[in-house]
Amino acid sequence: MFNTMTVTKAAGALIGALLFLLLANWAASGLYTVGSSHHGGEDEEHAQAYSIPVEESSGGAEEEEVQIDFAALMAEADAAAGEKGFGKCKACHKLDGSDGVGPHLNGVVGRDVAGIAGFAYSDAMVEHAAEAPQWTPEALQEFLENPKGVVKGTKMSFAGLKKPEDRADLIAYLESQQ
Ligand code: HEC
Repeated sequence: MFNTMTVTKAAGALIGALLFLLLANWAASGLYTVGSSHHGGEDEEHAQAYSIPVEESSGGAEEEEVQIDFAALMAEADAAAGEKGFGKCKACHKLDGSDGVGPHLNGVVGRDVAGIAGFAYSDAMVEHAAEAPQWTPEALQEFLENPKGVVKGTKMSFAGLKKPEDRADLIAYLESQQ
């Protein structure tokens, strides 16, 4: 009985202390933010001091990572290196507006998938267009890594470019070929 009471009291005191600390901490950070940085917009500052540690730090960071990855690749892409890389495509693709084994690739970045009238695309590519209608830089990154994996049944016989940097260089080059 005595023991139970002691434990209950101790637990109560502990919880009380924790609550107090939490409140004190919250109040202090609120005061600190308002007092030390920008003046005005007090309500906003309070709201931020309250929410940043909980959600934005984890969720925001993840989102950014994915974006920075691709954006950074494209930002560092070297179109001149991509022109050399295009040597691997030349056997089938031209950049003079005429089709060969594959459709011409003028303006392919941002172009409709299976969008060249008069070129006999595979059924697989036509079906792919229904799912992913546009050759965005992201879509090209994925397709060129593993054409037969991304468009199962495509008649483009090309193993793929393994290095993300090589694909980014090539996309930058293609982007310059309208
Ligand atoms: C051996 C021939 C061949 C090679 C090499 C080749 N392709 Fe293709 N490519 C094709 C064919 C054929 C198609 C049409 C695919 C289909 O209809 O399934 C195609 C389709 C494409 C498409 C879709 C075009 C559209 O209008 O939807 C892109 C983009 C593409 N190729 C890019 C490339 C790039 C970039 C390279 C070099 C890294 C490359 N290809 C290498 C034959 C080739």
